[in-house]
Amino acid sequence: MIPVILSGGSGTRLWPLSRGQYPKQFLPLVSGATMIQETMLRLDGLAGLQPPIAVCNEDHRFMMAEQMREIGIKPAAIILEPVGKNTAPAVAMAALSAGSEDDVLLILPADHVVADRPSFHRAVIQAEQLAKQDLLVTFGIVASEPETGYGYIKRGNVRYGEAYKVDAFVEKPDLQTAQRYLDSGEYFWNSGMFAFKAGCFLRELEKFNLEMLRVCREALAAAKPDLDFVRLDKQIFATCPSDSIDYAVMEKTDKAAVIPLDAGWNDVGSWSALWDVTAKDETGNAIKGDVLTVDTRNSYIHSGNKLVAVIGVDNLIVVETDDAVMIAAKDRVQDVKDIVDQLKKAK
Ligand code: GDD
Ligand code: MG
Repeated sequence: MIPVILSGGSGTRLWPLSRGQYPKQFLPLVSGATMIQETMLRLDGLAGLQPPIAVCNEDHRFMMAEQMREIGIKPAAIILEPVGKNTAPAVAMAALSAGSEDDVLLILPADHVVADRPSFHRAVIQAEQLAKQDLLVTFGIVASEPETGYGYIKRGNVRYGEAYKVDAFVEKPDLQTAQRYLDSGEYFWNSGMFAFKAGCFLRELEKFNLEMLRVCREALAAAKPDLDFVRLDKQIFATCPSDSIDYAVMEKTDKAAVIPLDAGWNDVGSWSALWDVTAKDETGNAIKGDVLTVDTRNSYIHSGNKLVAVIGVDNLIVVETDDAVMIAAKDRVQDVKDIVDQLKKAK
């Protein structure tokens, strides 16, 4: 099995810590290791793993190479995208780079947290077996809220051990639909991790978006060797249709299976999610750096350079970095994107 690390996101919802040039996956947000390193370290102990393939923006190539080196991993390839075209082309590049069409790829977003490693490993082992039977395997999280930022997977009646055939895959439904799915009890959230044979994925992509596959093949064939990097041809890749694996393939395929995953998964999509997964003191505060508190509860407080002092508040996010200070109510952290939009406009 070949781990494929997808690292194209800019993580704007964790501004001001996560930046375009230094997005969240390269930061040690939850442990001493960065999220990308955690993504690989989480696989420790799984048998039969081949060296990983990483797919990232070319601006991040040295961070990627260095962070892999720090944990003693030599990737089979670091594929560099001159522009982001979303996850379907990124996965296609990895599939086209695999040694054999029968290699099973384990697709891993670079910025998630999985608290329970043994449960995760059990699910991955089952996923590999199903992938060998030409299924496109998703890892389903039991849905607990009508979250509209996720894909929803309806389980079918056919069983494969603990897994189900997928009846329907719906990427990012509206709130009403998400609520209906939640009430039905028949849907999982899509975790964004997948397992399938390289050839299986490519055949499905060929069916649903031949143009994308054609451009990916061309951009890879014209790639320039550059140290250990595979630098995709910029002009060709720029013409690639942009789409996520979820819309481009998973919503359309009839070969999907879902394995329930109950392993403390979190995609750390916001400051409140980061507070959720971070170790807290007895008053519920998650503290990073030089911080003093008085009568403060259930808050996330990050100091980058200065002493940060917080008095008499609850449920606050305070983040101090080199060039910015953000203070937000914990239940308003989705609006960080409005600040990022304002900043982009001001540029
Ligand atoms: N290499 C590369 N290139 N990676 C990318 C690109 C790209 O152009 N775009 C996104 N990625 C990486 C991100 O860094 C992240 O690790 C992963 O692919 C998923 O992309 P997101 O942008 O975070 O997707 P999402 O959160 O909107 O939705 C996906 O994840 C949800 C769970 O977190 C979908 O798979 C949903 O169905 C799923 O529920
Ligand atoms: Mg995401």
